Amino acid sequence: MSKHDLNTAAFLQCVGSLLDSREVSSMKQWRHHFSITCFQHSLFVSYVAFRLARRLGWDYRAAARAGLLHDLYLYDPADGSAHPGNQCLDHPEFALRNAQALCPDLSDKERNAIVSHMFPLAVHLPRCREALVVNIADKVCATLEVVHLYQTRRIQRWLPVNAHS
Ligand SMILES: [Fe+2]
Ligand SMILES: [Fe+2]
Repeated sequence: MSKHDLNTAAFLQCVGSLLDSREVSSMKQWRHHFSITCFQHSLFVSYVAFRLARRLGWDYRAAARAGLLHDLYLYDPADGSAHPGNQCLDHPEFALRNAQALCPDLSDKERNAIVSHMFPLAVHLPRCREALVVNIADKVCATLEVVHLYQTRRIQRWLPVNAHS
């Protein structure tokens, strides 16, 4: 088995059932950064957080799960009527509420990672290493998406599953 296949298998053990859920799949319908969907972004963040946490010997399952659910706000961010408040500040709270409904067994670390992922623009502080990893992964992935490096063949080959389907 190649290293890529081993990493993919370990990743899918953490989030395979979540990837199959209707709620997570529904993120494919909304754009997040340019043409990148909320699902593609969330999968990217989840895998970067998973790889970082695994490399550092931290709780990579929590990092992968929180990464996948961190933007599970489940509305069109372009539709102002769907979120009357400040999207930047509010969406982690919506994501946490939906993530808890989907996964009643979310750990404290996972909850904190989701609700604090916009730090320092959010009121909630990352209080564990896994929250820090998701926070950093979110910023790295968003940057790669905005500068159009996400679509490069190198990154697409590195990802564990095809996020376009
Ligand atoms: Fe977000
Ligand atoms: Fe994000």
